[in-house]
Amino acid sequence: MYGGHAVISIGHSHPNYVDKISNQLTQIGFYSNSIRNPLQQELADKLGALSGCNDYQLFLCNSGAEANENALKLASFITGKKKIISYKKGFHGRTSAAVSITDNPKIIAPVNESDNAIILPFNDIRATEEALKNGNVAAVIVEGIQGIGGIHVPDAGFLVELKKLTEKYVAALILDEIQSGYGRSGKFFAFQHTPVNPDIITMAKGMGNGFPVGGVLIQKEIGAWHGMLGTTFGGNHLACAASIAVLDVMKNEKLIENASKIGNYIMQELAAMDGDFEVRGLGLMIGIEFTFPIKEIRNRLLFDYGIFTGVSGQNIIRLLPPLSLTVQEANEFLAAFSEVYVDVAQSLD
Ligand SMILES: Cc1ncc(COP(=O)(O)O)c(C=O)c1O
Repeated sequence: MYGGHAVISIGHSHPNYVDKISNQLTQIGFYSNSIRNPLQQELADKLGALSGCNDYQLFLCNSGAEANENALKLASFITGKKKIISYKKGFHGRTSAAVSITDNPKIIAPVNESDNAIILPFNDIRATEEALKNGNVAAVIVEGIQGIGGIHVPDAGFLVELKKLTEKYVAALILDEIQSGYGRSGKFFAFQHTPVNPDIITMAKGMGNGFPVGGVLIQKEIGAWHGMLGTTFGGNHLACAASIAVLDVMKNEKLIENASKIGNYIMQELAAMDGDFEVRGLGLMIGIEFTFPIKEIRNRLLFDYGIFTGVSGQNIIRLLPPLSLTVQEANEFLAAFSEVYVDVAQSLD
């Protein structure tokens, strides 16, 4: 029920995915961006059509951190400003600028520490406006749904207010959809549960179903000039083939609708168990927070039932299964979870 950190979107070794990458390899696996690669256009077109984000430009790279690094750099280039606002419990990657705005001092090396990072309480609009008023803010970055921090969906209205504020103070609004995007929340991007159109959207994980690929969607009006961003491997033929296969399968097998349907079902069933835990999330991005450490529950699920779950901190189970999860598989998990939870909760009494 973990899909390899939310990376496995269409399921392991899907035949169309295997065929597409294998065939591509027999033609050409890589050539640099000094030639035009038609697969990049096909990927951009299919991504625009399935996500509804048609009026964005696409920059391709190789990982989530790299996508955020480029998004932050772009925001700084276009605004001429330096500071970045991010939020408590947020995670944006382990590279230089991305880690400096990640709320985890343990993974920030001295070389990554930056006076440009402003990390504010999540959902705090007033604090955000105060920081923006002080000026020099290039961007506000926020996850569509906080993942590593424990599956926290932004409050209703938070993103709408952020959009208004970033417009007022001329900063870019960056939606980090690296974990919450690509259909996981039951919409293509989690922010699409709101009416907001971000200036920049970052994505990775589910995009390649395990093939390392990331991307940055950039609103058309943002005048990114040729050469502003660059990469050797980004947008290579194999990565494009993998990403196109993912989009084709997601569309043909209606996996976004499935994520919404099965995710809602799991959350309803968990809520109906009436246990001493809180259920949060959207689609197949689900957090279950307990009042006690979950090590025993996770171990029992794994060793007695062969079900692997994710974690956040000591007390939160994170469910991030492939978007192709069936109702039978969901029921298998729910039955196992119910038995294990009752046992473990009783042993604590
Ligand atoms: C929301 C978010 N942003 C960025 C990243 C970094 O992605 P990557 O590990 O591909 O660099 C992650 C990874 O977990 C993430 O969850």
